[in-house]
Amino acid sequence: MAKIVILTGAGISAESGIRTFRASDGLWEEHRIEDVATPEGWMRDPALVQRFYNMRRKAAAEATPNAAHRALAELEADRRHSVLVVTQNVDDLHERGGSRNVIHMHGTLTGSLCHACGHRWPAPPEMRPQDPCPACSRPATRPDIVWFGEMPYRMEEIWTALRDADLFVSIGTSGNVYPAAGFVADAMHAGVPTLELNLEPSAGTRMFDEARHGPATEVVPAWVRELLG
Ligand code: NAD
Ligand code: APR
Repeated sequence: MAKIVILTGAGISAESGIRTFRASDGLWEEHRIEDVATPEGWMRDPALVQRFYNMRRKAAAEATPNAAHRALAELEADRRHSVLVVTQNVDDLHERGGSRNVIHMHGTLTGSLCHACGHRWPAPPEMRPQDPCPACSRPATRPDIVWFGEMPYRMEEIWTALRDADLFVSIGTSGNVYPAAGFVADAMHAGVPTLELNLEPSAGTRMFDEARHGPATEVVPAWVRELLG
């Protein structure tokens, strides 16, 4: 059984209508990262951060999985392949597209986290700034999102799967943010073949053994059809 680790970024959800970050109309053109995606921004103005994530939660709920999400789920269902999706995305389009084996290394829009005690629970559609935590009652509720400067979730599990994979594939990410941007190097050092499927060359394209460029809804299903024969 071929073990495939697939990293995805905002680009795989772009054709579902969810904005990416670093495109010309990207989220970081309208919001300063330091205001809405850092712990300092949260401490400074939690209401602004909640509005930003409530807007993103609403956009994600209104979006539907696209052909790329569905193709990855089809590959996972094939008994000849063991697929792990490691996503930087905080939307749930992989799960709604049928993928089961998904790690959200940057957290999820559907989760709440207590900034004080670390308790995590499902987020309401409209989270209010610093609601009382159901576990410790302190007014410290925040989105369960990993911000810049914070450690992503389940990294040991991810690095172990990368080193043990038969193939590493990167889909729809610009390769700007570590540690995800370093996965191709980790795979290469472990002797794992690497493939990039992205709209255009990413910051790390030259590191990949092979790169195919085009919209995810075209290049991802074509690649899966090749594998499934
Ligand atoms: P980093 O230094 O790897 O960030 C690289 C890029 O992020 C920079 O090139 C810039 O584009 C942007 N960036 C980072 N901090 C910024 C800032 N204060 N102002 C403007 N742009 C900034 O990222 P990092 O700070 O080392 O954090 C990496 C950690 O944060 C990792 O754990 C990563 O998984 C996590 N993270 C989470 C999110 C999220 O929205 N969930 C976003 C980015 C990073
Ligand atoms: N098909 C395939 N790739 C696409 C498509 C598409 N239809 N549209 C855009 N892309 C590609 C872009 O070419 C770009 O390389 O997706 C990538 C999106 O890059 P970013 O906007 O930087 O998003 P991402 O790489 O996921 O960002 C990484 O940074 O700010 C944080 O939290 C954010 O987790 C995210 C991290």
